[in-house]
Order: sequence, then C-alpha cells, then structure tokens
Amino acid sequence: MKLWQGRTDGRVDELVNTLTTSLPFDVRLFREDIEGSIAHARMLGFTEIIRPEESSEIIAGLECILAQMENGSFEFEQDDEDIHTAVERALIAAIGEAGKKLHTGRSRNDQVALDMRLWCLRRIAAIQDSIKKLQTVLVDLSGQHVTTIMPGYTHLQHAQPVTLGHHLMAYFWMLQRDWTRLADCRFRTDVMPLGVGALAGTAYPLDREFVKRELGFFRISENSLDTVADRDFVIELVSACTLIMTHLSRLCEELVLWSTWEFRFVELEDEYTTGSSMMPQKKNPDAAELIRGKTGRVTGDLMSLLMTMKALPLAYNRDMQEDKERLFDASDTVLASLGVMSSMLATAHFRGERMARAASAGYTLATDVADFLVGKGMPFRDAHHLVGQIVRDCAAQGIELEELTVEEWSGYSPLLDSAITGVLNADHAVARRCVPGGPAPEEVMDQIACARAILSARPCFLVSKGISSMIASRVTWPRP
Ligand code: ARG
Repeated sequence: MKLWQGRTDGRVDELVNTLTTSLPFDVRLFREDIEGSIAHARMLGFTEIIRPEESSEIIAGLECILAQMENGSFEFEQDDEDIHTAVERALIAAIGEAGKKLHTGRSRNDQVALDMRLWCLRRIAAIQDSIKKLQTVLVDLSGQHVTTIMPGYTHLQHAQPVTLGHHLMAYFWMLQRDWTRLADCRFRTDVMPLGVGALAGTAYPLDREFVKRELGFFRISENSLDTVADRDFVIELVSACTLIMTHLSRLCEELVLWSTWEFRFVELEDEYTTGSSMMPQKKNPDAAELIRGKTGRVTGDLMSLLMTMKALPLAYNRDMQEDKERLFDASDTVLASLGVMSSMLATAHFRGERMARAASAGYTLATDVADFLVGKGMPFRDAHHLVGQIVRDCAAQGIELEELTVEEWSGYSPLLDSAITGVLNADHAVARRCVPGGPAPEEVMDQIACARAILSARPCFLVSKGISSMIASRVTWPRP
C-alpha cells in the first residue's frame, strides 16, 4: 500500500521500485523532515485550518516518531518509499484520523525542498567550523615558522626564497575564501519553501511567515514554481565543497612531494601513513594521497548535479531526487578531509634545516643580485640580462652564485663590488621583501595577526556587516 495510491492502485514494477525508492539515503533527512512537519502542523492549528487539538495531537505524535528515529527503535516498512512517506505512515498508524490531516496544503515537493534547505544550512555551519579548525592549525604553525626559510617555486622550479610560515599562510587565505563562499551560499539557502504546495501554491490560508519564524529562516521564497524546481543551493554548496577539496589537494600534493627522499622537507606522523605489503621500508603518505584523490570524486558529484538539473522543465521533476546522494557524498568527504588535514598538519615534523639548505640552491638569489645592480643605477632590464649570463656561466661550471670570487663578480661589472656577498643570503633576501603581503617575517606576523582577528570574530558579525569578503581580500582591513 503506497501512501499516494488512488489514481493508480499503487502497484509498481519491482524494478521501478528500486529506482523510485529513496529511503536508504534520504533517511538522513529525518530530523529536518519531522521538524518541518511540526512547524507545518503548528501553523495549521494556529490558522485554524485544522482544529488546535488535532494540531497538538500531530505534534505529539511527530515528537514520538522523532525520538524513535533518534534512538533507532523506529520500524520502517517495506512500502516506505522515502522518509516523508515513512513518517506520515507511522503518524497515521500512531494517532489515527488527525494524522491524515498533516499533509493539508503541503506536497512532498515543497517538503523535500524544506528538508534539503535545513540540512544544507546545518552542513554549511559544520563545514565552516571545520575550516576554522584547520585555519587555526595553519596560523599556529605559521607563527612557529615565520623565519623558517624555504625555497619558493614557480613551475616547480626554484624561484625565490620564502618562509614556511608564509607558504602555509597562503592556504589560510584560500580557506578564508572558502569560508566566505559558504557564507554567501548560506544566504541563498536560508529561504523557507514550505507553503507553495506541489507547484502552484494552495488555496488554504496558510501562514508562511509563521512557519518561517518557527523554523528560524531568514525569508520565504517568492515564486511557487521556482521554489519546488530550485536546487541551485545544493549545486552551490557542492561547488564550494569542490573548491575546498581543490585547495586541500594542492596542500596534499605538496606534503606528498615534501615527504619524498628527494625533498625530505617534512616527515608525516606514522598515523597518517601506511606501509607496503611487500616492501618493508615503505612509509606512504596515503592520507594525503586520498584527500588528493577524493577531490576527483567531489568534482564528479558537482558535475553529476549539474547534468541532472540541466534542461529540466519547470517545476518539480523526479530527476531531482538524485541530488541527495551527491550532496551527502560531497559534504561527507569534505568534512572528513578537513578533519584529517587538521591533525595530519598539526603533527607533521617540518625539517627547517633541509628547507633552508634548498632555499639558496638553484640560483634563487639571482633576482637579489639584479636588485643590487638596480640599486647602483643599472636599469632593471640590463641587470636582468647580465645576471642571466652570470647564472648561465655558473650552471655551465656546476657552481652556485655564492661560489664566485669577488674578482669574478667584478669581472662582470664594476658595480658588482664586494658588498655583493652580503646580498647572497636567503634570510636577507626574505627580510628585504617587506611589501605588504610579502614573506618578510614582520609582514607574515602582520598576516597572522589579521588572521587571528578573523578567527576570533563572530561569524554572524562578519556576515551581517557584509565585511566577510572585504576581510577575505584584506584590502581595507586595518593593519595592526
Ligand atoms: N523523494 C522525493 C525527492 O527526493 C520527494 C518528492 C517526491 N515528489 C513527487 N512528486 N514524487 O525528490
């Protein structure tokens, strides 16, 4: 017996049943579903669309079902197609006639939109919390490494020296954009859909504002067709998840590289590595590799959602039931990855001496030599050309810039006097780059102070003042 039977006798082909049944996954929406139903029932009583006693009976029945679902004693039945029908079927079984009135002025189409929005709002908050935890780890680590010199790369070739603190703070800002992206997404998700019926509203005098207040939404939706047809908020959330994973994958890739014998910049704590079944010496960075790998999976979730929604005519279509598994998968993966990343980073052993040694190798101080010449009046383009020649000669001889003698330097230009040896120092090169946003220790400390201010600000303040993106870009944030 199907809850919706009437127009047909409710029988469906066994294979069709396996396609239509969503209970195995939408059971995760039970809290949101029942909270939504309680608010709807309260409103039906308040507006006297049903009798206030009936409303109270329904609410008590729903609270009992919620408790059963929480403690695992709820009994699902074979014919329960989804979480909505399971709850309504159990309510009618428990309280009888009044239970049949719950669905007055409501459709599963606006109901599922409500469940999904509530679930997404809670998920957004959870992901934002996890982002903050990881950001805190990054800020703490960066604070310990403002003078830990390491090579900066472009094209994965040695470029100029930076510090580990500066490098890690780059990830703080990526995550800050992720956090504010979720705040933007939250704003568009925070819309109460209930009351629009299946697609065309309802003639009952429903009080949508009442339901909005009951459930704590910011506003109600404006158009009944759009309300039941819209899954933009799911796509936005999964898209935000994809970017978070993309950022984590870049950090993971660096941890994988840095833990190779060739780099030896970092040693990951044993708990975040695994061995090989054959090679006894192996310690593999599997956790980092898997976060990197799962980025593909979450991106697949996003693509899948976009393909599902593409070209769907208005309003609700059953295709949209496919949104749930993709949303659950993407957001579960993001939460797990953020959690692992926080503890993996917090316990990693960074090898400053290896990084420092690598930092001046590979001619990373060539720009500083050019800057030295510019300081003595040579136009930058000429300085760049001359230093390029010097590097080429050194490379041919297999030596570093530091190995050139004072005579050899001055042989290239009289401007290259003995003071050049003071320039050939990575600490000095980093300290000189004290432009705002640069790697000089005091600048990184400035970044860290700004980051700590962001982490301690109340999120609602950041969102309500509309300054979250301003802080994210740090353009007008007062410099401490
Ligand atoms: N399980 C459905 C979904 O997730 C609920 C809505 C069903 N509506 C309908 N008209 N069949 O989308």
